[in-house]
Amino acid sequence: MRLSRKLTAMALASAMVLSMAACSSSSSAPESSAAAGGSTTTTTAAPAGDTTTAAATEAAKEAASGAENAVPGGGNIGVCIYKFDDAFMTTYRNALQEILEGKGYTVTVMDGKNDQAEQNNQINNFIAQGVDALIINPVMTSAADQIIDTVKNADIPTVLINREPTAEQMAAYDKLVYVGCDARQSGTMQGELILDTPNKGDINGDGKVSYIMIQGDPENVDAQYRTEFSVKALTDAGMEVEELDLQRGDWDRNKGQEIAQNDLAKFGDEIEVIFCNNDDMAIGALQAIQAAGRTVNKDIYLVGVDALDAALNEVVNGNMTGTVLNDAKGQAAGAVDAMEALLGGKTYASGEQSIYVDYVKVTPENAADFQ
Ligand code: BGC
Repeated sequence: MRLSRKLTAMALASAMVLSMAACSSSSSAPESSAAAGGSTTTTTAAPAGDTTTAAATEAAKEAASGAENAVPGGGNIGVCIYKFDDAFMTTYRNALQEILEGKGYTVTVMDGKNDQAEQNNQINNFIAQGVDALIINPVMTSAADQIIDTVKNADIPTVLINREPTAEQMAAYDKLVYVGCDARQSGTMQGELILDTPNKGDINGDGKVSYIMIQGDPENVDAQYRTEFSVKALTDAGMEVEELDLQRGDWDRNKGQEIAQNDLAKFGDEIEVIFCNNDDMAIGALQAIQAAGRTVNKDIYLVGVDALDAALNEVVNGNMTGTVLNDAKGQAAGAVDAMEALLGGKTYASGEQSIYVDYVKVTPENAADFQ
């Protein structure tokens, strides 16, 4: 049984040498392939860089040695989500579960309930149960060291998602990968959405863009970068800006609604732009905008990130200026690819442990493409 698994992996590895020798493109993302039909035998591609025969042979060796660790048909995968009650992470975890189950893995998904101690227990339980790999959306990025230490001691291949630790933190363990997006890109795109409006966000023509910023959980780098880079896009384009308010809405619709309601009451027509670090808070802000008798794209602009279905509808209807696709399905697929590469024996050098999926700007013109 073990031998035949090894032979299958070696046959796949040899096939890869052939196909890779014939292929001259290179990619920074790890490639992996599981045989169709639910088999979990995995192989890994050559590291990024050249695809010479030497590199391909190295990859074949790597895959063959990875076969020692190959997961017996239907491996067990533990998935930890920071909390189920998060609109974006709900889309993400459903996509992840569907892809993993479609490939024949047995998947258990746990709700961290926004409590790091609870998530630590869940990780320990998964390890005690002997899962083959973990996919973890940390509750707190500041807990990354502890999480990495735990999975390293247990020697469990691990993919971190959605909340990115630093490269230094990840360097502690070479069977660890982060799959996510570069949040700077989403912030920049939010700023561009405002720059693309007829008055570049300066609705009242006083020479500056007056905005409020509704921030996600500021512990999270996505919140930090989106806050910084959305405004930077405006100033880089030569616009003067005025921050009327910046408050944390913790990615939450109700908090987004409350902050926008209070600020609209306080600053009234002075507010020209409401930046929200995510769509769920933007949907909340929209409720407040409408209750205050304001009209998006006429006397106020509103942008979010994620491209949740509800936000896409509002972009199409003209009730949101735009959003930015945070590609949950692409990230889920990338996380599974990285997990399979790890299961196949691939290790990741320090500085190469983050794999990014691109964001996409969403406007009324292209919103239907994402619905
Ligand atoms: C998403 C938010 C989500 C957060 C969770 C972000 O990338 O844009 O909607 O709440 O991740 O960590």
